[in-house]
Formats: sequence, C-alpha cells, structure tokens
Amino acid sequence: MSVKKIAILTSGGDCQGMNALINILVRVANERQIDVLGVMNGYKGLCQDDFIKLDNFVVENITSLGGTILKTSRYLDFKKDEVVKLGVKNLSKRKVDALIVIGGDGSFKGAMALSKFGVKIICIPATIDNDLRYTSRCLGFDTAVNNAVKYIENVEQTMEALNRGVVIEVMGRYCGDIALYCAVSTACDVIALPENPINQEELLDRVKYCIEVKKKIPVVVVAEKMFDVKEIAKILSEETNIEFKYSVVGYIQRGGSPSVADKALAMQFGVKAIELVENGIFGKALGFKDNKIFDLDLFDALNSDYNFNYELLNLFYLLNYKK
Ligand code: F6P
Repeated sequence: MSVKKIAILTSGGDCQGMNALINILVRVANERQIDVLGVMNGYKGLCQDDFIKLDNFVVENITSLGGTILKTSRYLDFKKDEVVKLGVKNLSKRKVDALIVIGGDGSFKGAMALSKFGVKIICIPATIDNDLRYTSRCLGFDTAVNNAVKYIENVEQTMEALNRGVVIEVMGRYCGDIALYCAVSTACDVIALPENPINQEELLDRVKYCIEVKKKIPVVVVAEKMFDVKEIAKILSEETNIEFKYSVVGYIQRGGSPSVADKALAMQFGVKAIELVENGIFGKALGFKDNKIFDLDLFDALNSDYNFNYELLNLFYLLNYKK
C-alpha cells in the first residue's frame, strides 16, 4: 500500500532543530506527493483531534527557529490504553497512513503504545538530554551544549574577576552528557554527573584539591538532580577561604536557533524518515552514528545498551584530578 498521508508530532521537551526537521519532512514529503498533517501539542493534541495541514508555505523560514511550531506537551495520560486508543481513532478518522514522532524516550514509549494498536510509526530522536542511548546523537544536543558553554564562559569571566568560585547546574535529566561536554569545553575543574556520582564529601575533596594542588579557583559543573547547587555553594564557601556563587543555566539551553550540526542532522533525519515511509518500513527509530543515519526497531531503540563516553570522562579526570 502506498502512503498518501502522514502526520508529524513533536512531544516532550522541545529542542532546537525540531522546526528544521519539520521543514525537511514537509518539503520532501510534498515533493513525493505525500500529504502532511501536523499534530498540535504532542500526544495531547493527538487525543483531542488537534491537527493542522502542513505545506511548504507553512514551513517556510522556520529552519532557524527554536521551539516547535507544532507545540508540544508532557501528557502523562498517554500511558493509559483507553487514551492511546483515542489517538489511534483520530489518526484513522483523518486517514493518516503513518505517524512521525519527534522527541525523546517518553515520546518513543508513546509511539510504541500506538504501534501496538497498529499505527505505522517512525521515531526521530530529538532531546537536548541526548539520553536515547542507541544513537550517538539526538537532535538538539549539540545546540544545547553550545548554548550552555557560552553561558558558562560568561559566568567564568565575571567569577574570575572577583576571585570567586562557582557551582553551575546544567540540564540533562538523568543523563550527564550535557555536563560532560560542557566540562571538557570550559575551564571546569570538578564535575558531578549521574554516570559516575560523587557524594558531598568527595566533591569538597576535589574542590580542595583544585585549590591546593592546581592553585586555581574552581569552576564546578553539576548535572541537574545531583546536588542542590545553592546549598553546595554555601558549603564550599564555608569550607574554603573562597567565596562561591551558584548559577543555573536553565532554559537558554533549550532555546534559540539550532547549530549548523543540528541543522545538518535534521536534514539527514528528515530525508531518511520519508525514505522509510515511501518504502513501507515502519516501527523504526532513526539513529546517527559515524556521520550516517541508521534505523532500528523501535523496541530495540528503547531497550538498547548503555552508551556513555566514559573515555572522555576519564580524560577529564586525568587532566583535572590526579588523586
Ligand atoms: O528533557 C529536556 C529537559 O530540558 C531536561 O533536561 C529537564 O530535566 C526537563 O526537560 C525540564 O522540563 P520542563 O520543561 O518540563 O521544566
């Protein structure tokens, strides 16, 4: 059966590159005579039958925009079968042959639920957290890290001028990729991340090592959920003779225009997704490795092995903490 109509949905936390990806999907699909609908507000809009028509005119000039023109939501009700069935019903009512889901692991789980009811799905990994472990990169990660690095460099400069230490919190949910890549790209001396957690005492030990051995006022990068950075800055100030401030990078990580790398990734993902649709291949997630896009079964994507760059983390330790 040839596909005549697809729908696109963005879900979970937005990220840079989602709009660039929507632009490519619509342009390539239209070129192949496939109609495209956009689902507004993620799975919530799917269940509320909130669709718009997407064409080249609608997606013109959106490539550099952060966020997602389709909006998104975190819709926990979608874990219930009866709610999923509403989505299935709306897709069938609108004669949608296949659905492209753009998002992170929660979004992929929603897609898995839909596919159990027969919906033809392609998933594209898009989350600043980079926490889908089967792919070496998710859309949005590169931009988010670059945004965070710029922020940290600004903070470092003003801290250095006043001889202050600083504890900086970055995003990532339960994944330390943003923290790690920020640490290796800035003047960071101490890192705390979920893949190799340290306790408060160890953190203090590393900060003191930096002051005493490296003779440097420390910059500490902490992945969210690891510590209360306000509290840690207070403790570090009390335990050292240095004034420590704290700073939370926050949502600037997730906003703004996508990096060149994310725009290119969006293009590669978009073209591959439509290629699979045209070939009638569904139930797949796309991934990126060695500059190439690959696809694998959605189930395997969600159950893939842990993949974290421990090599890079060890290099960081080697250069910063020889104890
Ligand atoms: O998943 C992306 C992310 O930015 C995480 O890094 C963070 O934990 C979370 O979303 C924040 O969620 P919200 O936008 O709901 O505050």
